[in-house]
Amino acid sequence: MDTSLIANKKNQINIVLNENKHRRSYVQSSEHRFRTHPFTHIDQKFTSFIGLTKLKKMVKQIYAAHVINQKRQDIGLMKTDQVLHMLFKGNPGTGKTTVARKLAQIYLELGLLEKGQFIEAERADLVGEYIGQTAQKTRNLIQKSLGGVLFIDEAYSLGRGGDKDFGKEAIDTLVKQMEDHQNEFVLILAGYPREMERFLLLNPGLKSRFPFVIDFEDYSTEELFKIAQTQLAKREYRLTTDAEDVLKAAIRKQRGCENFSNGRYIRNLIEKAIRMQAVRLLATETYDNPENLMYITVDDLNMRM
Ligand SMILES: Nc1ncnc2c1ncn2[C@@H]1O[C@H](COP(=O)(O)OP(=O)(O)OP(=O)(O)O)[C@@H](O)[C@H]1O
Ligand SMILES: [Mg+2]
Repeated sequence: MDTSLIANKKNQINIVLNENKHRRSYVQSSEHRFRTHPFTHIDQKFTSFIGLTKLKKMVKQIYAAHVINQKRQDIGLMKTDQVLHMLFKGNPGTGKTTVARKLAQIYLELGLLEKGQFIEAERADLVGEYIGQTAQKTRNLIQKSLGGVLFIDEAYSLGRGGDKDFGKEAIDTLVKQMEDHQNEFVLILAGYPREMERFLLLNPGLKSRFPFVIDFEDYSTEELFKIAQTQLAKREYRLTTDAEDVLKAAIRKQRGCENFSNGRYIRNLIEKAIRMQAVRLLATETYDNPENLMYITVDDLNMRM
């Protein structure tokens, strides 16, 4: 992926610049749309994402509306701009941040966004310390986001301090700016389900301004296992049959625990297994065989039952 990451200050506004190259490749491939199914392009973009059926459907709807809009315009019919602001509700590690990043790329390729930059922000990036500072900070952030995606994680923390807190001013400014720049950027607010529900009650105009509300459900054991396989395959590793069974059993057991972190649990587990395999191969000096270098065993998973 051709992206660069700029991190600044301690509050970490992350800006990922998506290159226009993506847009070019989409335009070049637009002729294919008549030979292959129009949705194949979107399916391909999401191949590395397990599950998330509703989200994939939603992106197809947005894409279809966009293409038909263009066709209507071509013959002189009226065009209806889409408002794409979204709410992502889901437990830890269900893919909210990863999906938001991907959407910035896809929307750029589809021509729904001008620049496709991805700006990740949290409470401290919007809320100031004295009167007037918050509105200014929030407006600045939106200015930076025009043409791209502004992703506000743990959005409910804006409503944390009650009526006297400047968080409320940030929410009011956001609502106003969403109106003023309706089709110029995509605002995605993300957070845990219960907190997000409570947050939406803070400003009566808030909920209705988000045409898309996506619930990121906890993954099933089977889906988590597939996520593990995908992450391993991406790194050119595989599980032995025994290790597959052990991993499935471990996932089944962990899923029930409080604060289970879904995809993040899998990623951490895979990264640890890769380190464990390296230690085992070095300790036993058995690294000359390609199979040994590739396979993760039960020992590497460190969870023998
Ligand atoms: N559907 C999926 N398919 C493949 N990998 C996934 C999927 N969902 C999550 N992951 C992986 O799980 C990890 C955590 O995902 P991510 O950080 O996007 O979760 P999150 O919902 O933003 O979590 P948090 O609420 O804690 O910020 C990432 O490595 C991501 O690639
Ligand atoms: Mg996240």
